[in-house]
Formats: sequence, C-alpha cells, structure tokens
Amino acid sequence: MAEAIPSKLNFNESEDPLWHPALRALPIPGIRHMVNLASEMDDVVHLSLGQPDFPTPKHIIDEHIRALQAGQTAYTLDAGLPELLTALKNYYMERTGREITEDNILVTTGATEALYLALTATAAPGRQFLVPEPCFPLYAPLIRMNGGEVRPIPTYADNGHQLDPQQIIDAIGMRTFAILLNSPSNPTGTVYPRETVEAILTEAAYRGVKVISDEVYDHMLLDGQDYASVLGCTADLDHTMVISSFSKTYSMPGLRIGWIISSQGTIKMLRRYHVFTTTVANTPGQWAGVAALTGDRSSIDDMVAEYRRRRDRVVELVDEAPYLEGYRPTGAFYIFPSLPKGADGTALAIKLLEDTGVCVVPGDTFGEHTRNAWRISYSTSMEQIEEAFARMTPWLKKQNITGVVR
Ligand SMILES: Cc1ncc(COP(=O)(O)O)c(C=O)c1O
Repeated sequence: MAEAIPSKLNFNESEDPLWHPALRALPIPGIRHMVNLASEMDDVVHLSLGQPDFPTPKHIIDEHIRALQAGQTAYTLDAGLPELLTALKNYYMERTGREITEDNILVTTGATEALYLALTATAAPGRQFLVPEPCFPLYAPLIRMNGGEVRPIPTYADNGHQLDPQQIIDAIGMRTFAILLNSPSNPTGTVYPRETVEAILTEAAYRGVKVISDEVYDHMLLDGQDYASVLGCTADLDHTMVISSFSKTYSMPGLRIGWIISSQGTIKMLRRYHVFTTTVANTPGQWAGVAALTGDRSSIDDMVAEYRRRRDRVVELVDEAPYLEGYRPTGAFYIFPSLPKGADGTALAIKLLEDTGVCVVPGDTFGEHTRNAWRISYSTSMEQIEEAFARMTPWLKKQNITGVVR
C-alpha cells in the first residue's frame, strides 16, 4: 500500500528491530492519510466518515450515566455482563429464529476486538482465508500477522459488488480454512441475498471450512429487505462465528461494545484469549447496550429512512458525475464507484482534496483490486452531500483521467 501514497504523505516508518516482524502486516491506513491531510486544510467536505452522524438515542445515554452513578465501574464476568448476554440471546433468537444460550456469546470491546480474537486465534501458516474484496481494512492484516494467507475474491461495481457463490466455491482448495463475509459491506454497501449466504454456508459445511461473518451493519438495510444473518442460515455453530456490535445500529461507536456468537466450545476458547487481551468490555457501556436492546428501537427506522433518502440522491449524483461508475447499494452508508480501469484512485483522491476540499477514501485502502475506485460515505447531511458533488462533478469534467494512469 505504501507505494500508492505520494512521498509527501509518507509517514516515518520505523525499521527498528525492536518490533516483531508480524507488525509489518499492518499497513498505514489510506483513510488516515486523507484525514490527516484534510485536517491541515480549511473548508473540507467529508465523504470519508465511517461512523453514523446521528446522536446516540437518549435512553442509551441515560442508562450509561445511570450505570456510572450506580457504581457500575468494576469488571464484569469475562464473557460479559450477564444482563447483556441474556438481552443478546433473546434478541438473536427473536431475529433469527435460532436457539442459542448465553454460553454461545462473548462480549468484546467493539467488533474490532471480536475480529482480532477470531482472526488471530485461528490464522496460522498453511491456513488460507477467502476474503471478498474490496473489504474492511482490518481483515487481511489480522490474518497475515499470524502467518495466515489471504486469498482475495474480487467483486466489481458493474454488478453492484455482489458475490457469486460459485466464485467462493471454486476458490475453496486444500488450504482453505475460512471464508470471511461482511454483509452489508463496508466499503460497498452491498447486501448479499439469502441464496448467496446459504449457498456459501452449505458448501463450507460440506468442505469443513469455517465462516466468519461480520454483521455490524445488519440493521442498515435500505430497501426493507430480508436480512440473511449467518446465524439464521446455518445449522452448525461449530463452523461459524458471527460478529457484530452496537456501534453502527445505535450510533454509539465510542462506547466500544461488540460480541461474537459461536459454538460453546469456540466461545470457551475465545473467552480465555479475551482475558489476555482486554479482560472485559467497558462495564457502563455494556449497561448502555442492555438499554439499546430492550428499549425503544424506533431510532433505527428513522436513521435508515434518512440513509435511504441520501442513498437515492448519491446514486443520482454519482450517475451524473463523469468517470464514476456507480450502482445502487442497498445497505450501510457507503457507495464504492469505480474510476476508469488503470486510473490511480489515490492520486486522484489527493488531487480532488487539494483542488476542491472534498475528501473521499481511496479504493486501495480496501484491497489490491480496487486502486481505481473511491469509497464515498453518505454518513453526512444532505447539504454536505450536495456541496461535495457541486465541487466534485465540475472538477471531474476538467480531468483527463486516462492521463493519470500509473
Ligand atoms: C465492516 C466493519 N466491521 C467492524 C467494524 C468495527 O466496529 P466497532 O466499532 O464495533 O469496533 C467496522 C467499523 O467501521 C466496520 O465497518
């Protein structure tokens, strides 16, 4: 990834032998480069944000404060606050129709810790992970840190970044250990239909391959569609890990509460690992999570309705913009349009930022096959979206993008 960044943005990377070689697997996130550059500029319009722009619902905040004031500042049990485990169990049984118990759940410090535990506890030399690309930038480095192999499965804007299950089935080989799924996806906003998830799970079960499913955007479904959680599509928890969090659905990413659901055996092992990483998740944050699951959830519908309105407009604006090939994302709050083949999305994103003050995220942040793309987030107001495109579209008209071929 480093070569994609112009020299003036290169951070001083230390070659100090102090560091374990595993840390070389950690790239400098492209998103940070853009945000750092933007922070030195005035009048920037961000289409780069990866978190909801809505306030956390009041009853969740009230419960967080109540927990603090009631002295809920000690460690919880290592698997999580019992009340939260029960609320999560009830919630998932109702949503997916699947029987689980509290022993199938581990509460973590956001989905990030859940991903860290799941991937670093299983990745090892000789184990290959199939990862649809573009994808959330944490997956590949966490797999590679412990010597696991990443096999990217590319998806493309011209079919809305949908995954053909046959692509996965054909890629399963002797070394394949696991398949990573993320629907709705960051960065594409793509939602996999139930047939796709079921076809992948059936083949994975048959071939003895694990499925790790990152479902943090599971409520950000913009067309009222059915949601195919892996938990509701599989009979076999031994081979699956479902990861999610409160961050996106309840607009509370800073409270850092997530979880993993899997077989009791897997949870037992991950619980032991969790004691050696963060021990327990934030206690008042877990109480806030209980309030999120048991209280009024109408804020989710309001948030989704607003994302739908913005998505509809962003799809029109991308269609009208020269050089961008869009599609209609149906989940999360992102679109990932491609630029012409061979275009350098990073160089163009930097030039766009310098010339117009519009900040998007370069495609190579999310995978090797997507250098000619940008992630556009519409987790910002309609006014900001209109302003961004009012600057970007005339700017694109003036570019000769084939002239930026690497
Ligand atoms: C796909 C995906 N997974 C996981 C995370 C991490 O979420 P959390 O805030 O729960 O750690 C994010 C955050 O942006 C995400 O987009």
